Amino acid sequence: MRIVIDQKKCAGHARCAAVAGEIYELDADGYIAFAEKPVPPGKEAAAQRGARACPERVITVVED
Ligand code: F3S
Repeated sequence: MRIVIDQKKCAGHARCAAVAGEIYELDADGYIAFAEKPVPPGKEAAAQRGARACPERVITVVED
């Protein structure tokens, strides 16, 4: 399972980090800090929570 983010469409709402900060790191300006990464073991639910929390719908959790 991995997270794919349409990073250029991130508007800096920071909801992803608020609900799952251990996965969704923000950069110094408050935007999501990565475009893609694997979901760490045991963090699947948190990854989904963060994706659902984004009002811009730019986060996709992909089942490999
Ligand atoms: Fe960006 Fe959405 Fe998170 S707009 S900071 S990816 S809640």
